[in-house]
Amino acid sequence: MENSYSFCDLHSHILPGMDDGCQTVDESVQVLRSCYEQGIRKICATPHYYPVESVDEFLARRDASAQELHKALEKETMPVPKICLGAEVAYRPGICYQEDLDKLCIGSSQYLLLEMPFHQWGEEVIRTVRGISNVRGITPILAHIERYLPMQEKEVLERLLDQEILVQMNAARLLHFATRGQARRLLINGTVQLLSSDCHNNTSRPQNISQAVAYLQKKGMDAVLEELSRRSRRIFREATGEK
Ligand SMILES: [Fe+2]
Repeated sequence: MENSYSFCDLHSHILPGMDDGCQTVDESVQVLRSCYEQGIRKICATPHYYPVESVDEFLARRDASAQELHKALEKETMPVPKICLGAEVAYRPGICYQEDLDKLCIGSSQYLLLEMPFHQWGEEVIRTVRGISNVRGITPILAHIERYLPMQEKEVLERLLDQEILVQMNAARLLHFATRGQARRLLINGTVQLLSSDCHNNTSRPQNISQAVAYLQKKGMDAVLEELSRRSRRIFREATGEK
């Protein structure tokens, strides 16, 4: 099912053998085909980055994986989305001072997809996230915010979200009866500005933006969809330098 909005998917794990996403080149090609069939023409590959390796080691591994995939795609007759390279960077205290942090931004943009710590956030987290934007001039995109909301204090959350950051939600949140009401509210009240798939494969964590779009259309949220889509395209343009 193709959706009628030109969403760029800014969060995915489609590179082969990089993390818990696609494991083989063949699987990556299959997932990319599914993305295209759902109307995704542009996608950011954002494999997990943990500081168990240097940034340069990670980038070398990522580039090798991307090259292997591109080689396979050259033989592909079916269309697939255009790919831009990025990372999903694990938060750690002091990350705002990491010298080569900008190398982990999405493409050539100054947007960094940030995986937040899975505990209650406090002053240090607020300071660090603020440092990424204020000290480094990098705009953090908080990945899948929905995972962290239940454990956060309202006041801390408000102060964090009040900064120069963007907030991303996974499309899956809009597909489950138990979570979609809250997910819709997060879009309507502006807490969330980006909708991505965070797809890992074609089975347990598939591309699902088109289903989320269909649901939001059914709920009459076309203006929100237009804004979400426009923002994703703008970031992709900045990441790739395309007009
Ligand atoms: Fe992810």
